[in-house]
Amino acid sequence: MDVGAKIIGEGLDEIRKSAKQSLQLTWIDIHIHTEPVKPKCACREVKQAPPKTIIDHVSGTVQPGQFLAIIGASGAGKTTLLNFLSGREISQNLKREGAIMVNGFDKDQMPNFSSYSAYVQQDDILFQTMTVRECLTFAARLKLEASEEEKMSRVNHMIKTLKLTKCQNTRIGGPLVKGVSGGERKRTSIGVELITDPNLVFLDEPTTGLDSFTATSVMESLGDLARKEGRTVISTIHQPNTDIFDMFDRLVLLARGKIIYFSFASKAVDFFADKGYACPDTSNPCDYFMSMMSKESIELEHADQNGIGESGLDPVAIDKEYDDLIEFFYTSYMASDLACDPKVVHPDVKPINAQSEAI
Ligand SMILES: Nc1ncnc2c1ncn2[C@@H]1O[C@H](COP(=O)(O)OP(=O)(O)O)[C@@H](O)[C@H]1O
Ligand SMILES: [Mg+2]
Repeated sequence: MDVGAKIIGEGLDEIRKSAKQSLQLTWIDIHIHTEPVKPKCACREVKQAPPKTIIDHVSGTVQPGQFLAIIGASGAGKTTLLNFLSGREISQNLKREGAIMVNGFDKDQMPNFSSYSAYVQQDDILFQTMTVRECLTFAARLKLEASEEEKMSRVNHMIKTLKLTKCQNTRIGGPLVKGVSGGERKRTSIGVELITDPNLVFLDEPTTGLDSFTATSVMESLGDLARKEGRTVISTIHQPNTDIFDMFDRLVLLARGKIIYFSFASKAVDFFADKGYACPDTSNPCDYFMSMMSKESIELEHADQNGIGESGLDPVAIDKEYDDLIEFFYTSYMASDLACDPKVVHPDVKPINAQSEAI
């Protein structure tokens, strides 16, 4: 082995060791936009769509033990941001600028980043004929490099942590086979991803299709993962109930690809009230934020004021008013004391730098 390779090898060991420690994910000035796709055949002229910004220069950081929720209307860019932060850049036509770092180290240069992180996607992919325990055992055997005894102990730990004891021997089921409930199915999907004991957990709308009570219990399990086990949990979520909202440590409000709030979830209501957007006492703060950030509410306001139907509105003027509103929220947030400072590092976080020294 040459010296360079040995140093890099040591660097990798260092990174693996660090990964067992607390991980802090930081992103600086992330800009994600579409890029024209080159036609496969040079002789064919393809009409290209104009480039579109999906994520507009956003920065932030999530520390170990924090449970971060990303909230925004459909099409705001939540899934795109989550995909890029988690290293799942699946769309060929999207390009990213800006840096994503784990404990100060460039994520793109981190080998096996996926083995320190888990991504629970919106749709569950489980075998309908397997039981909950079989799904977790299958995942453990597939993903873990450990003795059979250790794998089973991990499976048992997942069953206990995710409150799956009662249904562990029930089949997942599907449209034709009776199986576990929606919440148990979602918790099994989460268990399959968490079996590797990742430090960073990403979830895309984990409560989709669940009733309010079940959604709360799934989110409770995720909150425990952050608070009790010191993991870093980032989840997009669509209109959570008040109980779920109260579980979040940190909240990101995303509108048109811009972060208009990134701070303590508990301080969001007062922050927006101060800016003239007071959430009524009887409303769910999240429902209120969603309507506050939506273009439809501007359309409705105009339609009411002018006594005309929505079809009578000038779309360009509405678009401009909506852009101005988002800009107002953005500048108010950036000027406030609450604005997230991505340079702040958690005291337990040890910088990863062996690889960069090697290079
Ligand atoms: N690969 C892509 N190419 C072009 N546009 C995209 C692509 N992926 C997402 N978009 C667009 O980006 C916006 C944000 O999408 P997405 O991140 O899925 O939003 P959300 O998860 O908040 O509903 C949408 O307008 C969507 O149509
Ligand atoms: Mg989405």
